[in-house]
Amino acid sequence: MRRLSIDKRAHVFVLTGAGISAESGIPTFRGSGGLWENHPVEQVASPQGFIQDPALVWRFYSERRAAAKLVKPNPGHFALARLEEELGEQFLLATQNIDGLHQMAGSRKVIEMHGTLWKSRCSRCDRPPFADDAIYDSKNLPGCAQCQSRGEFALLRPHIVWFGEMLASENLDAIEAFFERARHHRFIFMAIGTSGRVSPASLLVDKANALGADSWLINAEEATNGGAFENTVIGKSGEVLPSLLALT
Ligand code: OAD
Repeated sequence: MRRLSIDKRAHVFVLTGAGISAESGIPTFRGSGGLWENHPVEQVASPQGFIQDPALVWRFYSERRAAAKLVKPNPGHFALARLEEELGEQFLLATQNIDGLHQMAGSRKVIEMHGTLWKSRCSRCDRPPFADDAIYDSKNLPGCAQCQSRGEFALLRPHIVWFGEMLASENLDAIEAFFERARHHRFIFMAIGTSGRVSPASLLVDKANALGADSWLINAEEATNGGAFENTVIGKSGEVLPSLLALT
């Protein structure tokens, strides 16, 4: 296998998924013990599911909030924060995770492609998303204060991108702008801890390859889109990343 060498001139884009937080104790979505085994996606992570049973959806995300409050970043998260410190604007991290562990490890510029557990927004009005780590269930389903002040009722919802919903265009634009800059330099694309099953995140490697990137997959097992990567490192990110990401 080739050795990855990252020097001061490299432009590095990193996409992370649930696998990077697995060693912190947060379950992944797919595979044995994965979240989607016991919680059907369409019930808890789709706009239709929320309309049908908002209490079930809020219970699911409240459980995620409660669990995420108890965990800490692992060496994989810290290795990425260190790399950002070294490379500055030549580094960009996009995560599919909603747990906030990258920020807790010190990563500053993090694109949260699928939203965040730590904000809520109104399911109806245009009030901007706001910080919220509260736990809700059927007895205290949250209403929107702004709608209420107009004499209307609307439920708050988690600030998460659900299946069937669009990703924020400013996030996709920021990724594209980074790719556009990186293509003129030594461009390294890394996907870490992601099964490659969910687009558009899973398609970023193809875009990067088309722009001449050196592409790396670091995952506990082969990914669905694994064939798109020039290099694959099978292993746990918390064990592999601290040495793999050291500058040469
Ligand atoms: P998945 O659960 O689909 O995949 C996690 C991947 O991480 C698997 O391929 C595991 O083999 C790997 N893995 C597990 N432990 C690891 C470790 N310690 N080190 C490295 N790899 C490890 O999670 P995602 O690919 O992130 O979306 O899923 C993508 C999206 O699907 C999620 O953001 C979520 C989900 O439905 C929404 O909820 C919108």
